Amino acid sequence: MIYPIVMYGDPVLRQKAKEIEKGTDLTQLIEDMYETMHTAQGIGLAAPQIGKSIRLFVVDGTVLEKEEGMEDFKKAFINPVLVEEVGQPWEFEEGCLSIPNIRENVSRKAQVRIRYFDENWNQKEESFDGMKARIIQHEYDHIEGKLFIDYLSPLKKKLLKGKLTDISKGEVDTEYRIAVATKR
Ligand code: NI
Repeated sequence: MIYPIVMYGDPVLRQKAKEIEKGTDLTQLIEDMYETMHTAQGIGLAAPQIGKSIRLFVVDGTVLEKEEGMEDFKKAFINPVLVEEVGQPWEFEEGCLSIPNIRENVSRKAQVRIRYFDENWNQKEESFDGMKARIIQHEYDHIEGKLFIDYLSPLKKKLLKGKLTDISKGEVDTEYRIAVATKR
């Protein structure tokens, strides 16, 4: 099932998402999230973006053919905990399926260490760097109620205000189905 993607302005994107009870069968949901993400040509999708305030996100960097080491970077992260973020911060132009047609530079630390459960409820702790770390940081922010535009300067935010208001009303062009707060 392909979910519509929740747009900026919806309160669910600002909530701190809830822990998922250990052992919950998430097979169908995770499959649906991959399908929804792939349809929207995204490389990461967090549960709040389909209207579910739970601590789960999926990533798939395998579509980034030019990025090295992405071959196996297709994963679900359940109840993740960011153990540490270290390294030299670097800037990269980020986008978000919930904030279509806006891309801005965001500075993030280079490496993350994350503890999480995989789709079989096996606990893992791994380190990631480069683009993998960035995708994880962006998606982890989503389950904390944070968005990449929160990192922008007040001036940048002011310049984007009109566009963001349009997005929150659903007045935006996308190739995928969207859901806005007022009509949800
Ligand atoms: Ni996003």
